[in-house]
Amino acid sequence: MDQATTNEYFISPATEKRIRDIASRYKKEPHQLMNILLDIQRETSNSFPHSVAALVSRIIGIPEADLYGFVSFYAMFSTSARGRYVVRMCHSAPCHVCGAQGVMDAISKTLGIKPGETSKDGQFTLEYCQCLGVCEFAPAIMVNDTVYRNLTPGRAATLMEDYQRGDVM
Ligand code: FES
Repeated sequence: MDQATTNEYFISPATEKRIRDIASRYKKEPHQLMNILLDIQRETSNSFPHSVAALVSRIIGIPEADLYGFVSFYAMFSTSARGRYVVRMCHSAPCHVCGAQGVMDAISKTLGIKPGETSKDGQFTLEYCQCLGVCEFAPAIMVNDTVYRNLTPGRAATLMEDYQRGDVM
């Protein structure tokens, strides 16, 4: 079983095979580097630790320091372990003036974690992020790859409860 901490990440043989399969796409689609790395991150506790960067570096031929610098730069990557579901609350101005803080408070209360924290069961990580590109439907959040728009505190709490029950995959 894979194990992730802030310092170390052990890659199981099954996960390594999946990483190799995904990374092999790079030779045919080098312009898809971002999407390839995001697909790999989904296989590794929603994080991109050093050990994963080292493995991917060997497979695709990009120096490890360059690859690690790339994933460290973009907010959608994390070099620390995160939960199965990464909940990102848009923190940009349009969402802020449309009630983002109330939505964040409702999510935080429902999940029992503050921004920057991961739930003890490893299911949820809560983060702020910049504009999700759907400002006309503010306030918005993203859970992994899915964007939810026009949220109220009540709708956000119900959505989180749906995730907790496993009604949303
Ligand atoms: S400001 Fe929140 S989606 Fe653009």
